[in-house]
Amino acid sequence: MQRVQLQSGVELSRLIYGMWRLADDTDQSAAHVQAKIEACLEQGITSFDQADIYGGYACEALLGTALKAAPALRDQMEIITKCDILLLSDKFPDRRVKYYDTTAAYITASVDSSLSKMGIEKIDGLLIHRPDPLMDHHQTGAALDALVESGKIGWVGVSNFMRWDWTLLQSAMKTKLATNQIELSLLANDNLTNGTVAFMQENGIKPMAWSPLAGGQLFAPDATTLQNALGSMATAQGVGIDAVAIAWLLQHPSQIMPILGSNNLQRIRNFSDAMKVEMSREDWFVLYEAANGHEVA
Ligand SMILES: NC(=O)c1ccc[n+]([C@@H]2O[C@H](COP(=O)([O-])OP(=O)(O)OC[C@H]3O[C@@H](n4cnc5c(N)ncnc54)[C@H](OP(=O)(O)O)[C@@H]3O)[C@@H](O)[C@H]2O)c1
Repeated sequence: MQRVQLQSGVELSRLIYGMWRLADDTDQSAAHVQAKIEACLEQGITSFDQADIYGGYACEALLGTALKAAPALRDQMEIITKCDILLLSDKFPDRRVKYYDTTAAYITASVDSSLSKMGIEKIDGLLIHRPDPLMDHHQTGAALDALVESGKIGWVGVSNFMRWDWTLLQSAMKTKLATNQIELSLLANDNLTNGTVAFMQENGIKPMAWSPLAGGQLFAPDATTLQNALGSMATAQGVGIDAVAIAWLLQHPSQIMPILGSNNLQRIRNFSDAMKVEMSREDWFVLYEAANGHEVA
């Protein structure tokens, strides 16, 4: 498995396993979570993506239970988590609205809660989950710098940030932001052309791609044109269409790191097939055209 250097001393595996759906699995046992982690590690997928809110605030604890049962896993993993979204949830009955909070007090408390739920000493990477219209960049930046200095987090990144959100926060931080986790797939490819990825390339920032299989929409009955285009390349190369769809992202020169979210052990075991796929520039545009429903201008 390729490794991607985000900044000096910070490396992730090229493919990342996303744990958003852990609590959707019929089997949420520690043994099954452990099996998914091991299936990733066996392929060199060492980076794992979490958030405080995943599974209605349940997924960090599911990971924590698995790590408690198999503590040797922790040192083989880079664990990323996020904060700043506050969900409406029966766990917070007084909350009246879904909202964002990037105050120092909230971020610091959220990191402490994530550390405790996962039962770990340090979070490798912390991402601000969504741009907060009320962000006081001086306060948020100072809080994030302090968390790095305290050793509770290794590095800081953001998610779903436009370039102006990035430059605003970065302007008030000593720590260099390491990555921006954005939506990117064949079916959600706007970030390739709206300036978000271009800004990252200009600044040597490597994107993480969430929902790289469009959250499963790629397999929906209304996506047959795209499925046929993927299918003929998949058959020719002896892999699944999911591998070809991920390979489409891997072709991009910005070194996109797709975050795969399957709960299916067999699919997880095949994640690294994407690394084997060969794709010409024409193949790439065949898939782009099939996904967009029209040729490029
Ligand atoms: N930063 C953000 O705002 C944000 C937002 C969303 C997600 N994320 C991150 O991105 C990660 C991945 O997101 P995602 O789970 O939407 O990724 P994804 O890999 O695009 O989608 C996974 C979904 O597709 C289904 N799927 C995969 N292969 C399939 C196949 N061959 N046939 C049919 N269905 C298939 C999976 O079902 P099975 O489980 O049955 O395989 C699962 O429901 C998350 O875990 C999270 O870490 C971040």
